[in-house]
Amino acid sequence: MSGKLYALSTGPGAADLITVRAARILGSLDILYAPAGRKGGDSLALSIVREYVGAKTEIRCCHFPMSADSAEKEAVWDDVAAALVQAVTAGKQVGFITLGDAMLFSTWVFLLQRIGCPDWLDIVPGVTSFAAIAARSKTPLAMEQQSLAVVSCTAPEADILRALHQHDSLVLMKVYGRFARIKALLKQAGLLECALMMSEATLPGEQCWRHLNEVNDDQPLPYFSTILVNKQWENAQ
Ligand SMILES: C[S@@+](CC[C@H](N)C(=O)[O-])C[C@H]1O[C@@H](n2cnc3c(N)ncnc32)[C@H](O)[C@@H]1O
Repeated sequence: MSGKLYALSTGPGAADLITVRAARILGSLDILYAPAGRKGGDSLALSIVREYVGAKTEIRCCHFPMSADSAEKEAVWDDVAAALVQAVTAGKQVGFITLGDAMLFSTWVFLLQRIGCPDWLDIVPGVTSFAAIAARSKTPLAMEQQSLAVVSCTAPEADILRALHQHDSLVLMKVYGRFARIKALLKQAGLLECALMMSEATLPGEQCWRHLNEVNDDQPLPYFSTILVNKQWENAQ
């Protein structure tokens, strides 16, 4: 059999929110690459899919530094991309797991930039964090003529404020470490009442805040925290 690389989306956290296709592929891999948050640390993505991994699959954890040093990050992306290509060239069935959906704010995309679009690459989509948060909080994302924007809170504040004014509905990702500023922007745009925040959606530590004006600016938040804004939906209690 010729080698193949599968980028596999794990979904937002609950093991049964992975797709049937991804679960099937996980059971047949020679090698599985799993990103870990810390060097030598556990991989959340791996903990989500563990039950689907084949008994004979070799698991290789790789650490992607979060540092501001772009040369350091690029060197790791180069190395991991090269290792994936090498394993496929050796005829292996290789997987790379990634949280939520592979094509949304994912380290996988930096690997994809290096690998290109060869025939031996297959990308399996998944449930995004914000699809899970919409479902868990029973808040629709968009309907009819409404616009939906997905915004990273790492964007300049002026861009975030413009998006808050322009769109009917917004997903604000990467809130961690920026909650106080985002809350102030929501207040400035008169949208605090239309917003909710969810952390660790579908994971055991899931938390939801429906009244952001009652959340302290210094509220400790997990890294996986996202805000949904829907201007035309009553934020049900
Ligand atoms: C690197 S991005 C990964 C996005 C992912 N690929 C997706 O499809 O949702 C990390 C951001 O996704 C959001 N996120 C991911 N999983 C989450 C979860 N289970 N609950 C809440 N937010 C989550 C947070 O905003 C976090 O800062």
